[in-house]
Amino acid sequence: MSEILRLEKVSKAFGGVTAVNEVSFALEEGEIVGLIGPNGAGKTTLVNLITGVHPLSGGRVVFAGQDVSRQKPYEAARRGLARTFQIVQPFPEMTVVENVAAGALFGGGLRTRQAASEEARRELAFVGLDHVADTPAASLTLPNRKRLELAKSLAMRPKVLLLDEVNAGLNAAEIDGALELIRKIAKRGITIVIIEHLMKVVLSISQRILVLHHGELIAGGPPREVLEDERVIEAYLGAKFAARIKAEGMHA
Ligand SMILES: Nc1ncnc2c1ncn2[C@@H]1O[C@H](COP(=O)(O)OP(=O)(O)OP(=O)(O)O)[C@@H](O)[C@H]1O
Ligand SMILES: [Mg+2]
Repeated sequence: MSEILRLEKVSKAFGGVTAVNEVSFALEEGEIVGLIGPNGAGKTTLVNLITGVHPLSGGRVVFAGQDVSRQKPYEAARRGLARTFQIVQPFPEMTVVENVAAGALFGGGLRTRQAASEEARRELAFVGLDHVADTPAASLTLPNRKRLELAKSLAMRPKVLLLDEVNAGLNAAEIDGALELIRKIAKRGITIVIIEHLMKVVLSISQRILVLHHGELIAGGPPREVLEDERVIEAYLGAKFAARIKAEGMHA
């Protein structure tokens, strides 16, 4: 495996608030990495920094060996850094396939509308939404809106895909379906960072877990190691929870 993305002491301050504080880590090609931490820990901000939504206050983002710290969101998308949004907002008046085609065009290459639309249909079939391709995006159920979001990201031909709470609001069966799809995406060789509050979910899918707390990376490693980390238990898991989930056993 080789390195695809590296953060070097990445920081972000909003006015007086340090949302992300000197965070460093590297991702290997094809990895599934869980990013966890309490509300306000800086997880979404970190995604925004990696994808050029916010300028960095300090540090560097290196993607495929190139310093991309100052990139714009469309440049990030074109390079292969795609993300989903915590709050899913499709263009409601457009059809499902048009939404995904818009992603394909934003993600660039030399795609024509025709090629973007064909690519969109392929990705819709991949995520299991081909049957609603020509309906308005506004008519989709929440789980299907999340699948649409994934199809849109995939149409950008990502190398790294950052998933910001794609399972939020889904029931247990819907989450199982979503996880199956995420594993299928990883099998395409796409590196995945999954932000997720449900520990069982994050433990079942992640090969490695990074923990943010008050904007700082307080732990990073295999799920078992992170579960036993005193700082993680104190900051996020709680002792009772850590003991219970260990007793129940992990799938990771
Ligand atoms: N655009 C912004 N302007 C000002 N402050 C911001 C902005 N975005 C985030 N913050 C602040 O940065 C901190 C980190 O927020 P962030 O949304 O990254 O947390 P999070 O870990 O994603 O939380 P959650 O689990 O609730 O989604 C918070 O204190 C938040 O209020
Ligand atoms: Mg967030």
